[in-house]
Amino acid sequence: MNRAQDRLIPALLDWFAENARDLPWRRDREPYHVWLSEIMLQQTRVEAVKPYYARFLERLPDIPSLAECDEELLLKLWEGLGYYSRVRNLQKGAEQIMARFGGVFPHTYAEIRSISGIGDYTAGAVGSICFDLPEPAVDGNVLRVLTRLSADSRCTDEPAVRKSIRDALRTGYEQTPAGTRGTLTQALMELGATVCVPNGAPHCDACPLQEDCAAHRSGSEMQYPVRKQKKARRIEEYTVYILQCGDRFAVRKRPDKGLLAGLWELPHLDGHTEAQAALIAAERWQTGAEEIVSVRRRTHIFTHIEWHMTCVHLLVSKMPEHFTWVTAEQLRAETALPTAFRICLPEQNDDSEKEG
Ligand code: ADE
Ligand code: SF4
Repeated sequence: MNRAQDRLIPALLDWFAENARDLPWRRDREPYHVWLSEIMLQQTRVEAVKPYYARFLERLPDIPSLAECDEELLLKLWEGLGYYSRVRNLQKGAEQIMARFGGVFPHTYAEIRSISGIGDYTAGAVGSICFDLPEPAVDGNVLRVLTRLSADSRCTDEPAVRKSIRDALRTGYEQTPAGTRGTLTQALMELGATVCVPNGAPHCDACPLQEDCAAHRSGSEMQYPVRKQKKARRIEEYTVYILQCGDRFAVRKRPDKGLLAGLWELPHLDGHTEAQAALIAAERWQTGAEEIVSVRRRTHIFTHIEWHMTCVHLLVSKMPEHFTWVTAEQLRAETALPTAFRICLPEQNDDSEKEG
């Protein structure tokens, strides 16, 4: 923030006191809760996070239970949220807190920042919200607000630019009265999420900062933040098989490395295959493919890749052991099957969710 921050910050805090949404992770200052919510919210919308957050805490109510959780349950609790390395790092972080801090979430910035999966953003968020540390949390929402306020046309994909923005904001935090740093963090995020919105024009008429906003004064709100041009997504074509034998379906575990590591998947082959050819191709798995039930197209968008899938539902007569054969109920309740494959299953609809 700039010279005007003497009045910006109080105006923002007043606005937040009136306009804060009642969100589950704002009901207490428990570091585990705030940490979990910030990790979930990093790539995922508030409304999508809510049910995951509740379910996760029901099963894993504290840091020791997270540290000890079985991987299958852990991935199942994250199923559909995407960016699964987040939950692996979360568990690694919990193990570190057990081993290095006796199970108590640390309260200095350096210690918080040293935990697996906690970068500058999350350390600032948990540090300020839970421990009132004068450390900013600059995510995409906050970057958008700040670059608009000062009509900052530097490229926000540059780490040095983000650091410079964070350092300038830290000065504002240091001058903000003790006891309100966490509120400042949440107020900035809230303004970015609900008023100075992504995807479309900001609601400047409802903004408490409009008189001090350089972008608004010049009507150039939509020019900020400046980003590098994104590379087009790579398109990958697959034929995905729903192999059904009686009431069981074939799944298999993905490799430990790479996209969707360690999750389950449906058998699939590279490239698009026509129905009859798909029936023949399936013979490589020796499942005794007998009948095509349906063939449908599905698309799933990851951050850098798009999967275009032909989904072939086959009735088969054998259950070879190179697959795991699960019932529909197990598939629903136990198997961590990412959204990309879940949308291929017969009872699913056509919606594809963004997931990485
Ligand atoms: N986005 C990231 N962190 C958030 C929070 N604590 N509340 C609402 N939206 C957020
Ligand atoms: Fe964003 Fe408009 Fe507020 Fe400026 S005045 S911070 S552009 S909502």
